[in-house]
Formats: sequence, C-alpha cells, structure tokens
Amino acid sequence: MILISDVIRAKRDGRELSPAEIAAFIDGYTSGAVPDYQASALLMAIVWRGMGDAELAAWTDAMLRSGEVIDLSDVPGYKVDKHSTGGVGDKVSLPLAPLAAEAGLRVPMISGRGLGHTGGTLDKLEAIPGFRTDLSVARFRELVDTLNVGLIGQTAEIAPADKKLYALRDVTATVECIPLIASSIMSKKLAEGIDGLVLDIKTGSGAFMARRADALELAKTMVAIGRAAGRDVVARITDMSQPIGRWVGNALEVIESVEVLQGRGPADLRALTIELTAEMLVLAGSDATLDAGRARAARILDSGAALERFERVVEAQGGDPRALTDRSRLPGFRSRLDVAAAADGFVGEMDCAEIGRASLMIGAGRARKEDAIDPGVGIEVHARVGDRVEAGAPLFTLCYNEDREVVAAARRLRAAVTIVDEQAPVPALFGERLG
Ligand code: URA
Repeated sequence: MILISDVIRAKRDGRELSPAEIAAFIDGYTSGAVPDYQASALLMAIVWRGMGDAELAAWTDAMLRSGEVIDLSDVPGYKVDKHSTGGVGDKVSLPLAPLAAEAGLRVPMISGRGLGHTGGTLDKLEAIPGFRTDLSVARFRELVDTLNVGLIGQTAEIAPADKKLYALRDVTATVECIPLIASSIMSKKLAEGIDGLVLDIKTGSGAFMARRADALELAKTMVAIGRAAGRDVVARITDMSQPIGRWVGNALEVIESVEVLQGRGPADLRALTIELTAEMLVLAGSDATLDAGRARAARILDSGAALERFERVVEAQGGDPRALTDRSRLPGFRSRLDVAAAADGFVGEMDCAEIGRASLMIGAGRARKEDAIDPGVGIEVHARVGDRVEAGAPLFTLCYNEDREVVAAARRLRAAVTIVDEQAPVPALFGERLG
C-alpha cells in the first residue's frame, strides 16, 4: 500500500516519484480519498523540486486517465489540433480550424474560455448568435467525421483531476510551475483523441510566460510530454508583446477572423494562421515542407473555401452563418472613446496584459470564472510597436456599452504604451521552433 505521506516526503527530499506513486496520488485525489491538505503539500514540493521527464509523462498520463479519453480511431484521417497558451487578441483558432479542415485535416478542437487578461476561443465563438460549444462527445465526433472539424468546450468528464488540481493550485500559489502547467494543458489536449498537436507558445508582455526563457522551457516540456504519449508535437514560440490584429473583444474578433477567411485581414493574424496551419499540414504528412503548407493554406484562404467551411460549421453548431458576413447580426457596441497619444514620437513597448485588462473592465473579458461577458464590446488598436504617432492621434478606441469603467479603462490603456523618441525595434512575430 502506498502512503501519500511517503509520496510527499519523497518529493520533498527531491526523489523522482514512480508511476505507481503518481497513480495512487492522482486517483486518490480525484476520488476524494486524498484530502486537499496533502495535495497542497505535494504540489508545493513539486514547485520546489520539479519533475523529471519520465515522472512528468506518468503524471500527465494519470491526469489524462482520470476521465474520458475521446476515441476518434473510427474517424479516418489524421487528427490534429492547435493549442495556444493565450494572450490578447489571439483569435487564430477561428480562421485556422476551418482552414485546416478545408485542407483535409481532421480538427477536433476543445477550447477554453477567457480568464484575466487573456481572451478565450469559446467566448469568441459564442459571440456568433446561437453558436453552441456544449455539444456531446457523440455530436463532436460526428462533426469531425462529416465536416472535418468540431469546436467545443471542455466537458466535465475530460481530465477531472486537472480541474480539481487547478482550482487548488489557484489558491495555494502553485500555478506558476512549468511541469504543472505543461501537464495540465497536455492532459486535456491528449484526451481529444489527436494524432498530432501544434503548440503556439506565446511570449512577451501579454503572455502567460512573459519571459522568453520560460516560454522555451514550457515548449520543451510540453513537446516531451506529447512525444512520451506517442503523439507528433511541434511548438512555435510567437510574440505576444502587442495584441494580435487590430481588435480585442469577442464579436469584433469574429469579424476580423472572417476578414482573414476572405483572404484579407491584418498581416500578423494572417501570417500566424497560415504558419500554424502549415505546421499542422506537415505534421500530418499532407505537405512535405512548411513552404508547401504555407502556399496551400494561403491559396485556400484566398479562394474563400475556408469561409464557406466555417459557415457550414457555424450552422451545424446551431449558429447563424449570416452573422459572419453581416455585422448587424452580431452583438455590437453603442459608444466609442478614443485614447490619444500624449506626445509626438514612436510607439515603444506596450504592456499588452494591461490592454487585456482594460478590455475586461469594459466587459469583454472576465476576472472570475463566474463573471458574464458582453460579447459586443472591445478595443480597436490603432498603433503597433515601432509606429510613428503624433500627439492627439488615437492609439486605441474603446468600444463599449456601459459607461461605468470606461474612464478607468482609458487611463489603463494610456499607461500601457510608452512613446519614445527613437524608433523601437519591431518585435519578430515568430521565434524558435521546437519539434
Ligand atoms: N492553462 C491550463 O490549462 N493549465 C495551467 O496550469 C495553466 C494554464
């Protein structure tokens, strides 16, 4: 019999835990047999001592097996998803999922909601009137089979150990720990029934991993977990030191995603969508090189076929497909407030997380899981790092419905940008590739 106090002691003293010890802990914690105080002690010991590769693979596997693992083996073809660690204005999943599906990949995508300064794919999709993300696993499988893509939220049955552990980590100061973060994300992704996974690991002021070294460590750790689980995994480090695209806010990001699906849209959003789709195509063996994948992805976007695919997905998931091209059918905002540059100069650094927090103050995001959001509101971002601006020119426009926090949000936005005399280097969108 394995005593949980021995497991805690072993980790406290820096020993690697065996798969049996890990399973005893994860199974016991999921069932309620292991109390929160023992779980808290073990989590803190992991924060201090870390985890080895084999240990982390066993930990992730135990979390994955704590719940339902979706079996898509009867759906032919290569099943592949993309996961981003999140940020501000990151709507890439919206154009990418129908694009990859149109290119012939099977895309079972289980996404999350926005929390804190980061937005969430589910909230963006649900800005489309009628769109349902709470489909059964059977319906999800059917969508992946018939339309090549299904877009749902995490069900209660997927990785329940992670759900419980994440809530505990939140209140015991044990969230910021790379092995715990990597295993938490990967346990949910591996439950999707995928063959391959493209990871978009964000770094910069709006990212969960603001420091590049941490982003690289997280990427390395997640790739190792995926490999140990027998999946194809590639990770890209990408920039989150300024918002992606021009809009932050749910319905506003739907509109911008549709622009990309029409072969238009902002350059960074289009580039991210194409690059990450190309990575998916190469993982699947559909294209031999990233260049070939990029060319194919661009061709499909420019043809409008991916937009048609998205319309079919929206309809199949209960949404109004006309809302994709008729903005009056999407939730909107009533008022606008410009936030102007205080001086002539160049846009220097942005505190991108602050831009996300300003958007949640006007209702585009949520501070707590239970908070409601206003899908119509958000921020238009006029300036990018390195741009020349004149005093009085708008840097941002707040697009809002409720007056309450708008002045404070404007103040936050103004403080989030530095105006400098010398042109700052424009941050590169793509960094390292691991895989
Ligand atoms: N997202 C997750 O799903 N888990 C973490 O631990 C951190 C971010």
